[in-house]
Amino acid sequence: MTTNVERYQRIARFYDFLDQSFERRRYRALRPLLFKGMSGRLLDAGIGTGRNCEFYPPGALVSGIDSSPAMLEQARHRCPTLAEGNRLYQMDVTSLDFPTGSFDAAVSSFLFCVLPNDLQAPALRELGRVVRPGGTIRLLEYVRPQGKLRRAVSYIWQPWIQWAYGASFDRNTDHHVPEAGLELVESRYVVDDLIKLLTVRVAQPAS
Ligand SMILES: C[S@@+](CC[C@H](N)C(=O)[O-])C[C@H]1O[C@@H](n2cnc3c(N)ncnc32)[C@H](O)[C@@H]1O
Repeated sequence: MTTNVERYQRIARFYDFLDQSFERRRYRALRPLLFKGMSGRLLDAGIGTGRNCEFYPPGALVSGIDSSPAMLEQARHRCPTLAEGNRLYQMDVTSLDFPTGSFDAAVSSFLFCVLPNDLQAPALRELGRVVRPGGTIRLLEYVRPQGKLRRAVSYIWQPWIQWAYGASFDRNTDHHVPEAGLELVESRYVVDDLIKLLTVRVAQPAS
């Protein structure tokens, strides 16, 4: 079975080309939403080719992780500040090599829709570990549309996005938030009934 690392090693050189019309028409407008109200030490999990970089809040100290070295290589060019600061790391989101509470917040865009179902809760739990208590985790993710036409189209796309990206519309990431010991603050559609923005809070320890 092909792993996500193998998939993204294979597709990294073509990734931006394949995504460019979606990036222009859809994603560029969404990326700033990830960072609303965020500052300090931030983690961009599954940074990919670095498409979020130009939207990082001024003054924030951002680190990026990705499991694919070839995707990180692309990010190196797009995010020179992170590259020069040695803050791009090859890591798996389910097992991060950062001490507990290292970040004030974490974001990820289109990472959880490529993570297999059994890794949803472990990945959320790990982000919750490295973000300080009271900190925010914000995710942009595709979901299976409810509307008839969009739903039908999503099934037509499914074989390609599964093969190319390991992605699915059926991850239901928001359902895994309580299982990971985190609080779902908001789950709202930001593109029709197709893309959701999730805001998750890391619990403060009981005093
Ligand atoms: C669909 S791309 C999204 C990239 C980028 N966040 C964006 O918005 O364009 C998913 C990214 O997640 C990375 N990825 C997949 N599984 C991962 C894992 N278990 N840990 C860390 N990164 C992972 C892939 O290598 C890829 O770069």
